[in-house]
Amino acid sequence: MMDYEEFKKAFYNQSKINLDLYKEKQMKRRITSLVEKNGYNTFMTFYWAMLRDKDLYDTFINYLTINVSEFYRNPSQWELLENTIIPMLIKRKGNAENIRIWSSACSTGDEPYTIVMLLNRFVPLSKIKIIATDIDTGAIHKAQQGVYQERSVKDLPKEFLDKHFTCINGNLYKISDEVKRCVDFKKLNLLEDTYPQDMDLIVCRNVLIYFTDEAKQYIYESFNLSLVQDGILFLGSTEQIIGSTRFGFRPIQTFFYQKI
Ligand SMILES: C[S@@+](CC[C@H](N)C(=O)[O-])C[C@H]1O[C@@H](n2cnc3c(N)ncnc32)[C@H](O)[C@@H]1O
Repeated sequence: MMDYEEFKKAFYNQSKINLDLYKEKQMKRRITSLVEKNGYNTFMTFYWAMLRDKDLYDTFINYLTINVSEFYRNPSQWELLENTIIPMLIKRKGNAENIRIWSSACSTGDEPYTIVMLLNRFVPLSKIKIIATDIDTGAIHKAQQGVYQERSVKDLPKEFLDKHFTCINGNLYKISDEVKRCVDFKKLNLLEDTYPQDMDLIVCRNVLIYFTDEAKQYIYESFNLSLVQDGILFLGSTEQIIGSTRFGFRPIQTFFYQKI
């Protein structure tokens, strides 16, 4: 199939998702396999079909965005957040309810809800409000429903599971409305849209791995502008910033960077 460049352009004009900023080899391989699986032999015939068929379009977006997530994913990182970073931010802001937090690729909500449950160790749920965004409205919709398979909550400490979830049919877990109310969900494309401002903590985990170096640099710089002085950027376990001072950050713990 020779028309990948044309496909990328057409798809960008339609969706504002710039596939050039995602690692090409991996992305092209994924898209090719989806196009072939659906019985198309050029990218553009697949594109035109997507425009006519909303389900196919949604399948494509879903496939592209890789929504894999989990509550309390990589537990040691969350322990660091709870034991070191949140206490530091509380000291600076006076209390936990004033900390401005943004989960910037929140997928199905596992990550922002984990943040809420940790904050709830310091402050009542009624005082918590954080921002959570993702490019994929399907994932955001699932987050707002708040119903999860057992595998999504397998790493979550039992105390949180007992306190904030109801088990349905023995294998689904529904998060409480009190926790849901603490999160403002919104669609936001990290490569196109305006970022929220004056953040104390930005969480961006397991998405930068999909981007080109150019895209990553743009995002680091934009996060830097979005943070307050001394604000914290929390990255995924395989996403260290090489030469972070170039982007105005100093590493303060593994996975945590502070705006200089
Ligand atoms: C693998 S999930 C990570 C979810 C969560 N942060 C975690 O670590 O469990 C990656 C998420 O990034 C989102 N994403 C991909 N490209 C994006 C973009 N340009 N802007 C915002 N979100 C994006 C996807 O929709 C997906 O939900």
